[in-house]
Amino acid sequence: MNFAFGHRNTLPVYLDEEERDGLRAAGEFNSQLLDFLRPHIKEGVTTNEINALAHQYTLDHGHVPACLGYRGYPKSLCTSVNDCVCHGIPDDRPLQSGDMVNVDCTTVVDGWYGDSSETFLIGDVSDEARRVTQAAFDSLWLAIRTIEPYSSVLEIGLAIARFARDQGLGVVENFQGHGIGRMFHQDPGIPHFPVKKSRKDILVPGVCFTIEPMLNLGSAHTKGPLSDGWTVLTADGSLSAQFEHQILMTELGPEVLTLTKNGPQEGHKF
Ligand code: MF3
Ligand code: CO
Ligand code: CO
Repeated sequence: MNFAFGHRNTLPVYLDEEERDGLRAAGEFNSQLLDFLRPHIKEGVTTNEINALAHQYTLDHGHVPACLGYRGYPKSLCTSVNDCVCHGIPDDRPLQSGDMVNVDCTTVVDGWYGDSSETFLIGDVSDEARRVTQAAFDSLWLAIRTIEPYSSVLEIGLAIARFARDQGLGVVENFQGHGIGRMFHQDPGIPHFPVKKSRKDILVPGVCFTIEPMLNLGSAHTKGPLSDGWTVLTADGSLSAQFEHQILMTELGPEVLTLTKNGPQEGHKF
């Protein structure tokens, strides 16, 4: 999520039980889509082929690919390879052994948005690629386990940034998580580093949002979007990894709406 997109609700939306079920169904379908794509995300496959599979699977199930046409975005998902931080546009380059690729899917199910992503390691990757991927995954779960009803959003940024910076990794500041529901991006914004205003954003039961940390092996700075209008790279060319889950805060604690069946689960070692 780009800061520049802005949030269109001034207040976060608190959902009742029926609305929560709508969002649960969207999160579940989005994870099902990632599980469907999983075996195809391998050496020799182009990101355009992954895009086509996702597009068709979503339509076949009667749902809508949210990225396609979103602010003019040309494809049905984002594929961010190696030093691409986010919003990479699928193309005809086959994935190669040693690549890392974040696949970020968003779908609309009966008017509710589901949004989640994973970084996939292709073939034999460097220790450094594995390290930044592990850290991005662990930082997401650390943040999830840090929050409880009425936590402030600030706690998310504090947890992720402390964890990543201790490992010498850059925490991207130009893009953040976001509230989500009947809109793709809404309040509250979820920065992955401490921002003072987040202290006032309280995770009241019924709020739904994403956490989607982007960690860089080098500097946190980004460049772009490129002339395609979307692609964002690390400023120094270093590798970047990201994971995203969609989370509903309930009276009992955070509920992760986008758990996959076959993907890396909490505690996974890459
Ligand atoms: N899925 C991204 C997010 O996590 C947003 C992608 S917008 C697109 O917020 F237009 F690039 F698809
Ligand atoms: Co998102
Ligand atoms: Co996303």
